[in-house]
Amino acid sequence: MSKLIIANWKMNPDSSEAAKKLAKETDVKGLVICPPYPFLIPVAESIKNAELGAQDVFWKDVGPSTGEVSWHQLKHLGVKYVIIGHSERRQNLGETNEMVAKKLFVALEAEFTPILCVGETKAQKDNGEKYKILAEELNVGLSLLPENVCQPQPIVIAYETIWANGTGDTDNPRDTIQTNSFMKRELLKFNYKCDFKFIYGGSVNSKNAEDFLKHKEIEGALVGGASLKPEEIKEIVKIASK
Ligand code: PGA
Repeated sequence: MSKLIIANWKMNPDSSEAAKKLAKETDVKGLVICPPYPFLIPVAESIKNAELGAQDVFWKDVGPSTGEVSWHQLKHLGVKYVIIGHSERRQNLGETNEMVAKKLFVALEAEFTPILCVGETKAQKDNGEKYKILAEELNVGLSLLPENVCQPQPIVIAYETIWANGTGDTDNPRDTIQTNSFMKRELLKFNYKCDFKFIYGGSVNSKNAEDFLKHKEIEGALVGGASLKPEEIKEIVKIASK
């Protein structure tokens, strides 16, 4: 797999027409577009080169779970990737590592490529808790993943410096590489037979993307704000495919 660029549209845009327009304008190979649920179908119908991702998945199959969306509802729409445990869900909705673990398990069973988001807030960073938080998010988040079993699809670990999301600030790429090495060592404590990919998220744009993506240790980017601007995101994909 070459570098992976994930467009996380979050709760944008505000209409189906605008979603179709944005999807058509950013329909490039190497990009995974994750629109809000109501726009999965219009986006699926508008793309030929990009791939489709969802911003979440629920762990149950069917039944009384108001407001949730199951893996097979997503599967029918051609979704290939799912974001799991995004910091905004953890912070705004109290999503826990245990919930994340169940979602990750279901995503793998459904043969989606999961994008597991981990990362520290500003307060955790300032309190020197970054590595403790990352270890917990990985250890609990992956706790339902069987050891010694080969997964057909990779597991993408998106390291989000939460303190940088949407601020224009980013991590120092050297620190990202160090953080990725720490996470790789954590994962080596288990006999996971998976292909883990490590990507970075936090105010990535066309101006700073190269600083991250030129390093082999950073295998892609999770892009929020800049993914809503066609020229920006296409430039990031171009940089990633160099
Ligand atoms: P951002 O968002 O690029 O706007 O910082 C990244 C993310 O949270 O997915």
